[in-house]
Amino acid sequence: MELSLSQALLEWYRRHQRPLPWRQRSDPYAVWVAEIMLQQTRVETVIPYFVRWMERFPDVNSLAQASEEEVLRLWEGLGYYQRARNLWRAAQRIVQEHGGKLPSRLNDLRHLPGIGDYTAAAIAAFAFGQDEVALDGNLERVLTRLFDQPLPAGSAKTRRALKALARQHLPAGQAAEYNQALMDLGAIICLPLSPRCEVCPVETFCLARAHGTVSERPLPRAGRAIPLRFQFIAIVTAGEKVLLHRRPGRGLLGGLWEFPSLFIESEEAVQTAPSVFAQEYGLHLELRSPLGRLSHAYTHFRLQAEAWHCDLLAPAPPNFTWVERVELSQYPMGKVARQIARRLIAQQPTDFERL
Ligand code: ADE
Repeated sequence: MELSLSQALLEWYRRHQRPLPWRQRSDPYAVWVAEIMLQQTRVETVIPYFVRWMERFPDVNSLAQASEEEVLRLWEGLGYYQRARNLWRAAQRIVQEHGGKLPSRLNDLRHLPGIGDYTAAAIAAFAFGQDEVALDGNLERVLTRLFDQPLPAGSAKTRRALKALARQHLPAGQAAEYNQALMDLGAIICLPLSPRCEVCPVETFCLARAHGTVSERPLPRAGRAIPLRFQFIAIVTAGEKVLLHRRPGRGLLGGLWEFPSLFIESEEAVQTAPSVFAQEYGLHLELRSPLGRLSHAYTHFRLQAEAWHCDLLAPAPPNFTWVERVELSQYPMGKVARQIARRLIAQQPTDFERL
């Protein structure tokens, strides 16, 4: 008997699925945490974070009762920190409004912080067995090829069309396996640049393969240039203490700690930083010596940061905090600040150029 597309896919998935820790549990909390961690983040990166998180916060209640600091510290290094704060806030809402259990209805899920279309559908399908399609960027690639759709990645129209096509083939009651089979197909076989069509379990169903258009699917999205921004970072010390500042709760690296820093117009504008610090933050500094340059790629811009040892000319205003150098590891930070903190803890602050 000829297998259908979904039968061939599920048959392959039973034999070749990746052994991922969140697949060993179907409780909605674990599914939710895994799906949030997996947003914009590679599976291999997420695995150790997921395991540690589940040990420390095994259920919604333990997460809801934790401090924001501890949540951010456990998340540190995964990036996109808004995700951690949203998990924490959503846990509190789930305790208050849903008796500590994740709701199963798409609409209720969508009302929780950090849960959008994709995550709501993933939780509904993986944890509650509902016939939903959780469409992420990898599935877009797989499905535009399978159904040979000349559509650009990432547009609302593309998502609507692909969801409808994927639903037509979804075997009722098996959405968890079906979605994750498509995900694994995208991760192992239907790769972006060099798809392994010769070993694909659904090659005979793939319209792009039949039409010779695999390498043209999906169509490229309209290009956007990523700007370069410059930052000045002040390392201010007093004996064994270092001056830190906590970023506001929302926005880039919200709630994380950093060394006093500000954006400057260009690399050449370092000399203007002290007067901007004085005007905008009431922090009176003088440049002492350059420590080095660090760079980092955020989603919407690339950062080039220049760190300087600075002297303090007047007491720092109250929204800056003196912290023991050896205790810097206890303060949650983004990647750039953490690199500097590590150097300060190890007392090797002068060789940033190697970073
Ligand atoms: N990416 C997002 N969710 C996933 C899952 N459940 N398994 C594998 N990769 C994923």
